[in-house]
Amino acid sequence: MSPFHITRTLPEDATDAALRADVLHGLTATPKTLPPKWFYDAHGSELFERITELPEYYPTRAEREILLDRAAEIAAASGARTLVELGSGSSEKTRHLIEALTGLHTYVPVDVSESALTGAGHALIAEHPGLHVHALIADFTARLALPDTPGPRLLAFLGGTIGNLLPRERAVFLASVRALLAPGDALLLGTDLVKDEGVLVRAYDDAAGVTAAFNRNVLTVVNRELGADFDAGAFDHVALWDAGREWIEMRLRSRRAQTVKIPALDLAVDFAAGEELRTEVSAKFREDGVRGELAAAGLELTHWWTDRAGRFALSLSVAR
Ligand SMILES: C[S@@+](CC[C@H](N)C(=O)[O-])C[C@H]1O[C@@H](n2cnc3c(N)ncnc32)[C@H](O)[C@@H]1O
Repeated sequence: MSPFHITRTLPEDATDAALRADVLHGLTATPKTLPPKWFYDAHGSELFERITELPEYYPTRAEREILLDRAAEIAAASGARTLVELGSGSSEKTRHLIEALTGLHTYVPVDVSESALTGAGHALIAEHPGLHVHALIADFTARLALPDTPGPRLLAFLGGTIGNLLPRERAVFLASVRALLAPGDALLLGTDLVKDEGVLVRAYDDAAGVTAAFNRNVLTVVNRELGADFDAGAFDHVALWDAGREWIEMRLRSRRAQTVKIPALDLAVDFAAGEELRTEVSAKFREDGVRGELAAAGLELTHWWTDRAGRFALSLSVAR
């Protein structure tokens, strides 16, 4: 195997079928929804990278701080020879982990964004000549077939991306993660924590409008892939905190009454003036909740680390 290998676990027509199913289901539902994974075409992945550098978007800096402080501890606890990362994106922060894992043989980044995987993979093999990188273009909510690589494995899920899954989806997802872990393997999970509403909302509604552009990008993806005629400029970006469910919601609010045609689905979708389409939830967590959700999936939390300001947590857990 060459040091950089990329595998598409789903044929392109399956991705196309999944998008069609999600758009048909989500835009005919009340209220309307679209799953966040469709933000991430090449442009969406670039916009997300810009978000991570915004002054308001603290999660990336907070998680990097924990990784820098704790990488040696994580490496000692896991002794991983294979690092699998779900929703790896640019793998920027992961570098700290890769450097600390001295016995690492293979890195397996898993993402729906082929452009992000290719960019990250080439950069990593240039920086770490001995490292094998086996990238998987895959949906982490589907059954994952991981390459046969040496154990133990550390499975990382960073960035607080788990918060994009609804509670029942998280339970199914964590059970599938548990099924991937052999004795000696571990899960490293990044979770954003409940905090002041203003800080949270600003992180998803930045002054420069990058998150707004990221949010609207999903409409551009549907236009390109399904021939739809969304006028992205006719939708306002909305970010709000749901205190009861302890999650941020991103929505797109129709500025006027309008009908959007989606020829590939033979569908016309009516939006009332002010009607909102939910594009993402981002759940925020507390230690007890994380511990409980992991336990319900058969995982035992062994370490809990936060950044110094207590904004974000990384936890390590093992199969019970
Ligand atoms: C919030 S970003 C986090 C990126 C990176 N882990 C970080 O911490 O900065 C979410 C990443 O997960 C990927 N992603 C989202 N939904 C996915 C899915 N269902 N399956 C695989 N990758 C997904 C996106 O392409 C994106 O790279």
